[in-house]
Amino acid sequence: MRRIAVIIPAAGKGERFGRREKKIFAKLDGRPIFLRTLELFVNRDDVCQTILVVSRADLEEVKTRYGANLGFMGVRICEGGEARYDSVRAALEIVNDDAELVAIHDAVRPCATDAVIDAVFAEAAKTGAAILASPLQGTIKRVSDSGTIDATVPRERLYEAQTPQVFKRQVIAEAYANPPESMEGVTDDACLVERTGHPVSIVESNFTNLKITTRADITLANAILKARPAAKPQKKLGAFEEAQW
Ligand code: CTP
Ligand code: MG
Repeated sequence: MRRIAVIIPAAGKGERFGRREKKIFAKLDGRPIFLRTLELFVNRDDVCQTILVVSRADLEEVKTRYGANLGFMGVRICEGGEARYDSVRAALEIVNDDAELVAIHDAVRPCATDAVIDAVFAEAAKTGAAILASPLQGTIKRVSDSGTIDATVPRERLYEAQTPQVFKRQVIAEAYANPPESMEGVTDDACLVERTGHPVSIVESNFTNLKITTRADITLANAILKARPAAKPQKKLGAFEEAQW
């Protein structure tokens, strides 16, 4: 049985979501986004540890409102930092020594299916580093400063990175131990691993593993969840069967 530590960064400010409600607590079909995301992992046989990273501003609320629930699920809470990088680094420090792989998955990607999670876990076990990614669908234009098109970029071999991003524990530890001088352009964990020279494999996913960024994404995520077969509560707490599409 594989031993996988799962880090769920949830310490962002959710600025693009708006201030009316904190993004990670917003409800998706009646339940907070971050809880739905945690439930994708906590009952998996191959997961040995789950760490939820929360901002200092949200710690009290998470502990008071959800502490019992999280304790029951065996979730460890840790305090995040200013940038996502700082949040993941804080969690890496408390990953169990006996974890073989570390999976990092945005708290705001609640629609990942068991099937894509299985696939990226398996690929990372084989290669040491693998991420989910979705092939680009549209026509891609590179635009000049003046707002006119410089080039139409062929979309072959272009992918949008998603999470989970999964690495052998030593591979991600080494990447975080030797960060670049500037974090400009470093927008995911794979990027740090790529810099070390370790190859990172792509496991193909699709747009349904969306990241909740703005309020409109809630409508989309609700539609995606609704289109899937109903959960079987006796099998997994809140987990959903694989989507047909
Ligand atoms: N995140 C984090 N710590 C940070 C910044 C981001 O743990 N300092 C987490 C977010 O909570 C989210 C994930 O990283 O689960 C992806 O980030 P993003 O979608 O950008 O969310 P936010 O940073 O919260 O949103 P925004 O950029 O609009 O403020
Ligand atoms: Mg952000």
